[in-house]
Amino acid sequence: MALKVVIIGGGSSYTPEIMEGFLKRYEQFPVTDIVLVDVKAGEEKVKIVTALAKRMVLKAGKDIRVSYTFNRKEALQGADFVTTQIRVGGLQARAYDERIPLKHGMIGQETNGAGGIMKAFRTIPVMLEIAQEMHEICPDAWLINFTNPAGIVTEAVMNHSPFKNVIGVCNIPFNMRSGVGELFQVPAERVMIEFVGLNHFVFGRKVYIDGVDRTAEAMHHLIYDDVDYSPANIVALPWNKQFLKTLNMLPNPYHQYYFQHEQVLKKDVEAYQTNVTRAEVVMEVEEALFKKYQSPNLDVKPEELEQRGGAYYSEAACNVMTSIYNNSMDVQTVNTLNNGTITDLPADCVIEVNSVITASGPMPLSIGNLPAVISGAIVQMKQYERLVVEAAVTGDYSKAYAAMIMNPLVTSDDKAQVVLDELLHVHQSNLPQFSKEVVKQ
Ligand code: G6P
Ligand code: MN
Repeated sequence: MALKVVIIGGGSSYTPEIMEGFLKRYEQFPVTDIVLVDVKAGEEKVKIVTALAKRMVLKAGKDIRVSYTFNRKEALQGADFVTTQIRVGGLQARAYDERIPLKHGMIGQETNGAGGIMKAFRTIPVMLEIAQEMHEICPDAWLINFTNPAGIVTEAVMNHSPFKNVIGVCNIPFNMRSGVGELFQVPAERVMIEFVGLNHFVFGRKVYIDGVDRTAEAMHHLIYDDVDYSPANIVALPWNKQFLKTLNMLPNPYHQYYFQHEQVLKKDVEAYQTNVTRAEVVMEVEEALFKKYQSPNLDVKPEELEQRGGAYYSEAACNVMTSIYNNSMDVQTVNTLNNGTITDLPADCVIEVNSVITASGPMPLSIGNLPAVISGAIVQMKQYERLVVEAAVTGDYSKAYAAMIMNPLVTSDDKAQVVLDELLHVHQSNLPQFSKEVVKQ
């Protein structure tokens, strides 16, 4: 039986990792066709990645057809799973998202603050197009999205397209599980963390090892030992001990932007001044990776891919696909519709939470009320995210400004406007919905 996976943004340097994920799971997930879709501008990259993917399949001795195309609609015919790993505007756009806010003394980051807002504005219209096409061409397929900001993008698709089979994934929950596993010296599979919150704003409320609640010990380790489960793109700064005691939950690495704001801003402004924000680092890593990928002798995922912050994303992505395919009914952490899971948040919003993964999709495990210490922050972040979606789909300047000022990393009314205007201007070719506003300036 055919089992077809379409990878949109297939020319990404991350693709060898998801290929490895498919090859590792071939017995449980016997994929027959993998189609890498990309835009014409990415022709060179997608050709290189396709050739490497083919060598990987050959080495593994599996019967999988790998191809690439620029024709998305054609690729979607007969698709069972579609993954999205696109970056609208490429790494140059990311550099603007990082550098323009930093120039004005605000956090500049690709998924947080003003940069994250812009990435959502560029990405949401394209994702809605993809969802519409899936609705028409492969309505029963599943869309597994890791395009950032993954939670916001997933919510936009869920609420603004007729296509509902969408799931957002991120490597952070997986990283946290394996980090905790290391602390307790057990493999990640024996660790369960009860995750509550939103993508890149998720907390680990409880830690279970082999089903036993070990939260208190996990917190003790976190407070007194040197624990770091940050991805490559985030340099962890030690948490204040009282912060951890009071929180009594595992923070995720992205929380540093909010709860260690001053130190992180100082460090990132320095990076800006020396011309190396994360975008520049990633450009170099990519260049080296693509050189490597071209080597005809390379037929496995190279280790250097671990220098990317998204390393291990394939664990999340391939596990979700495998469990849907097999109706495994196991628990995984995904971005899915709240629907009463977190009572403090609207039913129709997307949250990052543990869910039972079935052939009919994720069924989230109830959370109830958010702990008081984080509920205000999560409610505010969700309301901010909803403003971002509204602005992205309407192209309404006032809504875009509302999203800016409601983001905790945007620090003043005037700067919000200056930064918004500069970003709308540099990104105008990728923001058709805002074209009226940019002309006005
Ligand atoms: C994290 C996030 C991903 C993000 C990545 C950035 O791990 O969970 O969503 O894409 O970091 O990594 P990069 O190497 O692009 O800075
Ligand atoms: Mn992520």
